[in-house]
Amino acid sequence: MATNSNVLSIQDLWAGYDGDAALESISFEVGTGSLVGVAGPNGSGKSTLLKTILGLLRPWRGRIQVFGKDVNGSRNRVGYAPQSEVVDWDFPVTVRDVVTMGRYGRLGLLRRPGAADRAAVAGALSEVRLDELAGRQISELSGGQQRRMLIARALAQEADLLLLDEPMVGLDATNQHELLELFERLRSRGKTLLVATHDLSCVAACFDLTLLLNKKLVAFGPPGEIFTPELLNEAFAEDLLMLPTEGGVFVGHHGHG
Ligand SMILES: Nc1ncnc2c1ncn2[C@@H]1O[C@H](COP(=O)(O)OP(=O)(O)OP(=O)(O)O)[C@@H](O)[C@H]1O
Ligand SMILES: [Mg+2]
Repeated sequence: MATNSNVLSIQDLWAGYDGDAALESISFEVGTGSLVGVAGPNGSGKSTLLKTILGLLRPWRGRIQVFGKDVNGSRNRVGYAPQSEVVDWDFPVTVRDVVTMGRYGRLGLLRRPGAADRAAVAGALSEVRLDELAGRQISELSGGQQRRMLIARALAQEADLLLLDEPMVGLDATNQHELLELFERLRSRGKTLLVATHDLSCVAACFDLTLLLNKKLVAFGPPGEIFTPELLNEAFAEDLLMLPTEGGVFVGHHGHG
């Protein structure tokens, strides 16, 4: 049992690359069953935050605890779907192979997947509606199918904390809607999700909590409290077009209509 009831607890986290800080003094805590949208402009540190929580990147300083343990002690409980740009899509493996990789942390290197593993893989494929494409080479997937496969791999792991890096990009309206329904189902099963996204309207509509990032933590709380012109301005500076409307503020990205 974790001594700390928080799923995730981050204190004064600094991280970066080659001496350039990408995250500066980040502190926040997330409880069980939260759906957290991680928002911020390009280069604001969203992916860096997820990679640091996962242990792919070592923090410069600060403390990260997942289920009351350090990163190494809780690795199997954290699932991750990377931004799909970082995947080698020409690699000759099938969709099922990749989703089965989600089981390796439990299997170890030498044990072959058993019935429980196959069931978890089948369940994950079905959650993202890729059952029929399970045998297909990953080079032959559409962009939306690629995203869903990466999410299925994280689901197959049966992790309790899911870190999803821009899972909605490139999905059509139907698939985006289904993905948001999946997030709700996962949350109702006690899973906690941290989802990096550029889609502010989606964060406002579908997430419990918003983490507004711009290297520093600009704000953290319910979207209704975070999405003020002042805080959005601080996070996005000149990247956003903001127009006051009755009942709130219209937010649009420059160059996106
Ligand atoms: N592997 C790397 N080596 C060096 N610098 C990096 C690396 N990855 C990211 N950075 C830098 O760290 C900063 C934060 O990048 P990060 O990828 O975390 O941003 P992001 O918010 O995910 O952006 P995006 O919305 O474009 O995905 C940026 O300045 C970026 O150039
Ligand atoms: Mg990113």
